[in-house]
Amino acid sequence: MAEITLTELNVWLDVGFTILYVVLVVALVGHFIGNVLTGRIKKRFVHKQWPHHEGPPVPFLPKFLHFQHVFSMFALAFSGLYIRFPFFDGGRTAMRWVHYVFMIIVTINLIWRLWYAFYAKQRDYKEFAITKEDIVTAPKVILYYTFVKNSKPHLGKYNVMQKGTYTLFVPLLILQAYTGFALVADQFIFGYSPRDLLLGWWLGALVGSTDLAGWYARTAHYVITWLFIILTTIHAYLSMTEDFPAFQSFFGLPSDHDSHGAHDDAHGHDTEPHGAPALNPSASKAE
Ligand code: HEM
Ligand code: HEM
Repeated sequence: MAEITLTELNVWLDVGFTILYVVLVVALVGHFIGNVLTGRIKKRFVHKQWPHHEGPPVPFLPKFLHFQHVFSMFALAFSGLYIRFPFFDGGRTAMRWVHYVFMIIVTINLIWRLWYAFYAKQRDYKEFAITKEDIVTAPKVILYYTFVKNSKPHLGKYNVMQKGTYTLFVPLLILQAYTGFALVADQFIFGYSPRDLLLGWWLGALVGSTDLAGWYARTAHYVITWLFIILTTIHAYLSMTEDFPAFQSFFGLPSDHDSHGAHDDAHGHDTEPHGAPALNPSASKAE
């Protein structure tokens, strides 16, 4: 009975998230058109007025870890969706291998990035902390992205939406790893499976069987898959359209940012006319 309900739930999730994703893509296309109509695209890509960044360049390690993350997440999303919907013939074994290899890589990568954030010499966890100022200025950031206002407050390395998204990625990925490992039902650990060890003793006991607990884990793994697809689409779109030079440098691509045009939101706002000199970049960060 409960399994039938869960099967139905899974169909609803497929339909619901597919529709939601189409709506998202339409919204992002609309946002891009807004960027063109308000002249933001011209200002950025033609007149090269990009946000200014203070402080030293981003070190190699976080860039490398991010790149590895992007690559692994694409591999996991692709192979995971294939495991669920085999959209070509004969790939099952290969795709399971891809999923199993990258699930280890992404888990190690996550631990490594968290170590970097909190314990490395160049630890950067403070860049992600949402401050009182972020909360006060959040409406302005949202009004800027919805084209109501022409300028956005520049507070630190990341704005409140970036901080929120980047911070959310962490528990989501931990949950994804947890529910993912709980999908492994082979009893290779002294007669127990990862599913038994991760779920059996509590969720299994709670809902009546370890198998049913496994169903919940699978459903949660699938929901989080979609949340990642949605968040990553928005994140990638904004990173490319809002700050293309930062995108280029973050991925180690050559950028002409430093040789052309004006920086525009050194401090305060990015409403300076084309060609305006950069505002005082030595002013201290707001955080
Ligand atoms: C973080 C570490 C992860 C672990 C440990 C993990 C583990 C697993 C395992 C063991 C399976 C079952 C594979 C099989 O049946 O052979 C699975 C399925 C799946 N994974 Fe992951 N995975 C992880 C991350 C991800 C990510 C990041 C995504 C997508 C963004 C993803 C999407 C999926 C999907 C869609 C399925 C198919 C689920 C279904 O059958 O309904 N996984 N995962
Ligand atoms: C096509 C995919 C992606 C693109 C183009 C992209 C692009 C970027 C860029 C340009 C930045 C730097 C922003 C800045 O310095 O202002 C950034 C930061 C970040 N991105 Fe992505 N990203 C992608 C996928 C992902 C995925 C899949 C995740 C996590 C699951 C992720 C998590 C993060 C995090 C946590 C940061 C903060 C900085 C850091 O990690 O050092 N990104 N991304």
